[in-house]
Amino acid sequence: DTQKTLEGKTVLITAGPTYEAIDPVRFIGNHSSGKMGFSLAEEASKRGAKVILISGPSAEKAIHKNIELHRVISAKEMLAKVFEFYDSADIGIASAAVADYAPKEVAEEKIKKNDENLTIELVKNPDILKTMGEKKTHQFLVGFALETQNEEENAKGKLEKKNLDMIVLNSLRDEGAGFKNDTNKIKIFTKTEKKEFNLKSKEEVAKDILDCIEGQLLK
Ligand code: C5P
Repeated sequence: DTQKTLEGKTVLITAGPTYEAIDPVRFIGNHSSGKMGFSLAEEASKRGAKVILISGPSAEKAIHKNIELHRVISAKEMLAKVFEFYDSADIGIASAAVADYAPKEVAEEKIKKNDENLTIELVKNPDILKTMGEKKTHQFLVGFALETQNEEENAKGKLEKKNLDMIVLNSLRDEGAGFKNDTNKIKIFTKTEKKEFNLKSKEEVAKDILDCIEGQLLK
């Protein structure tokens, strides 16, 4: 049986992709499965936490009764939902693959394929995690980074820039890691420490991440 090491804590987790509407039937999205966030939610709830899980479109299901699941579609909806619950959270974990840009305007009718070229103007989405960092009062904040170059430098840069307490670096170089897969290979950075892990199932990775968070909270 899992030890109730997170009893009395509220953990807010973002998960999955976001879909940004182009017209009533089309969207801009990405291949995030939501599995990492749902695995974190299951493990945190097994450890006794109350979990607020805010997920974009994902086929994953929340099983544990301590998980309160809120499904959203777009980045703007995710941002609004996060800040409904942010004050009550002790720990915030942003594992969502939020779309960086959204169409400036959503066409009211399905766009017809009349022209040879179609241009869609995109505008930057809000950075949910950065906003959480700016409004941080007591929360322990954890972000994810997925980099293709200067991975460690960029991850550590995000730790600073988004005012985080911990960042989890997904390696894209490793076979079976990140995003769509059921496995992941991570490195964890705090302001002072670095830990490297082997390729594991996302369930096992969730345990490593939560162990690290608990270790930091006890300091
Ligand atoms: O800046 P970058 O997108 O690489 O940062 C990744 C981290 O920031 C992830 O934890 C992700 O969930 C979060 N993020 C966010 N809102 C965005 C973009 C990223 O919460 N618009």
